[in-house]
Amino acid sequence: MRILSGIQTSGTLHIGNYFGALRQHVALQDQGEAIYFLADYHSMTSVRDADARRGFAREMALDYLACGLDPARAILYRQSDLPETCELAWILSTVTPMGLLQRAHSFKDKVAQGLQPDHGLFAYPVLMAADILQVNPDGVPVGQDQKQHLEMARDMAQRFNHTYGVEVFRLPEPLIEEAVAVVPGTDGRKMSKAYGNTIEMFAANKATKKAVMGIVTDSTPVEAPKKTDTPVFQLWSLFASEPEREEMFERARAGGLGYGDVKKDLLARLQAYFEPMRERREALAARPDEVEDVLADGVRRARVIAEPVFAAVREAAGLGAPPRAEPKKRGRS
Ligand code: ADP
Ligand code: TRP
Repeated sequence: MRILSGIQTSGTLHIGNYFGALRQHVALQDQGEAIYFLADYHSMTSVRDADARRGFAREMALDYLACGLDPARAILYRQSDLPETCELAWILSTVTPMGLLQRAHSFKDKVAQGLQPDHGLFAYPVLMAADILQVNPDGVPVGQDQKQHLEMARDMAQRFNHTYGVEVFRLPEPLIEEAVAVVPGTDGRKMSKAYGNTIEMFAANKATKKAVMGIVTDSTPVEAPKKTDTPVFQLWSLFASEPEREEMFERARAGGLGYGDVKKDLLARLQAYFEPMRERREALAARPDEVEDVLADGVRRARVIAEPVFAAVREAAGLGAPPRAEPKKRGRS
């Protein structure tokens, strides 16, 4: 089974990214051939600062490795190191109806929030389809919010195949872990970099404490029963076993449980959970060349998988043969 997924390098990863994406990505490396990438082209639709983008990609590579991605098994590459993806995005855009893109929830949401859309934002799902289809994966692990983008990728695959009478692309399946469909942010909306409501995975302890203590709660007095379908309990549950959760929810319903105590316990659990990863991350951060080597090896392996697909696409569409790879430079004689 081949698996592919990516995360935009548009900010610092938070626990929503971890439970909604990263954790599953790492677990899937044991299930088959796993390919992950740092989506820096995608980040261009929101981040306009070159140093910030470079930094986010570096940090995210560290995050993946700290969380247990094993480069001996899984592939990790930086999206812009494989620029052929952009060519495929163009090709796919020619079989993508405008109406399909106009129906994209994430595009409509951003426009509704007052963002002045540019073509990159509009075409975002096409680039995403190219990321996916170029390696013909069986499954694409994504959060619920990306499901529609995946359906669009399937649609584009079908349209290309149909237009040119070929079976170049397989239809990728979304792999969605329903249990943690959406991690709420500290303000109760979906946790997202864009909303400033995140709890980061590796922030300094003080910042983590501030975020946890700032989780919204209602003004129910301590002695009153508490609703458990609220952000503080949902977040706490991420770090608890099923029996622990049942016990806690029982106490909440009985009354006499203060939100402050739940937050303190959440903070302790959260810090203990990420501590071993934090240590691994610090050790890796001291060896930046090693991280670059992982990415260089990653793109080389990704290219080996994608090249036959690129060639088949060009052939099917009547384009020229793919440019030949540069012959390896010989040492001076
Ligand atoms: P953000 O909304 O913070 O910008 P991204 O859109 O870059 O996050 O998402 C990166 C990955 O993390 C995606 O697979 C997405 O589904 C997942 N993800 C993001 N936010 C959450 C959340 N609050 N709950 C669960 N998964 C999430
Ligand atoms: N759009 C995804 C997100 O915002 C990131 C992404 C880009 C992606 N290309 C992808 C995810 C391909 C899965 C497959 O999180």
